[in-house]
Amino acid sequence: VVLRMAAVAVMAIGCAALAAPTPAQTTAAAARDAAPSGDAQRGQAIVLDRTVGLCLLCHSGPFPSERFQGNLAPSLSGIGARLNRAQLRDRVEDSRRLNPASIMPTYGPQPASTADQRVGQAFDGKPILSAQQIDDVVAFLATLTAP
Ligand code: HEC
Repeated sequence: VVLRMAAVAVMAIGCAALAAPTPAQTTAAAARDAAPSGDAQRGQAIVLDRTVGLCLLCHSGPFPSERFQGNLAPSLSGIGARLNRAQLRDRVEDSRRLNPASIMPTYGPQPASTADQRVGQAFDGKPILSAQQIDDVVAFLATLTAP
C-alpha cells in the first residue's frame, strides 16, 4: 500500500508539471494508472471503430484486419513499449498539453481555454470519450509492445 501511494505521488507530481488538469483530476488519473482498470478488448474496439475513436483516420498500427489506415500520425506499433500508461493517457486525453498545434482531437474534457471552438450544440462541453473509455483505450495501447 505504501509503495502504491508513493507511485501515485510520483506520477501526480509528473503530471502536475504538464499543468492543464486540476489537481483532483490528476490524482484520479494517476490512481487509475497505478491500479489499471481499463479493459484492453473494449479499448481495441474503440480504437478500431471509425465511428467512435476514429484513431485510424490518422494512425496506422498492427491491425491487419483494418483497411485504409491513416498516415497523418506516427504508427501505434510498439507504442506500449515507448510510452507508459500516464504518457499514453496524456496524449489521448489532450494531446495539446504536449503539442499546442496538434491536430489530434482532445478525447477527454476540453480545457476551458478551448471552449470557444466551433462545436455543434449537442456536443458542446461533452468529452468525445468517457473516463472509462479512455481507461480502456490506454489499457489497449499498453498491450501494443511489439515493434
Ligand atoms: C486527426 C488525426 C488524429 C486522430 C484522429 C488521432 N490522432 Fe493520435 N496523433 C496524431 C498526431 C498528428 C500525433 C503526433 C503528435 C502530435 O502532433 O500531437 C498523434 C500522436 C499520438 C500518440 C503518441 C504517438 C507517439 O509515437 O508518440 C498516441 C499514443 C496517439 N496519438 C493515440 C491516438 C489514439 C488512441 C487515437 C484514437 C482514440 C488517436 N490518436 C487519434 C493525430 C491523430
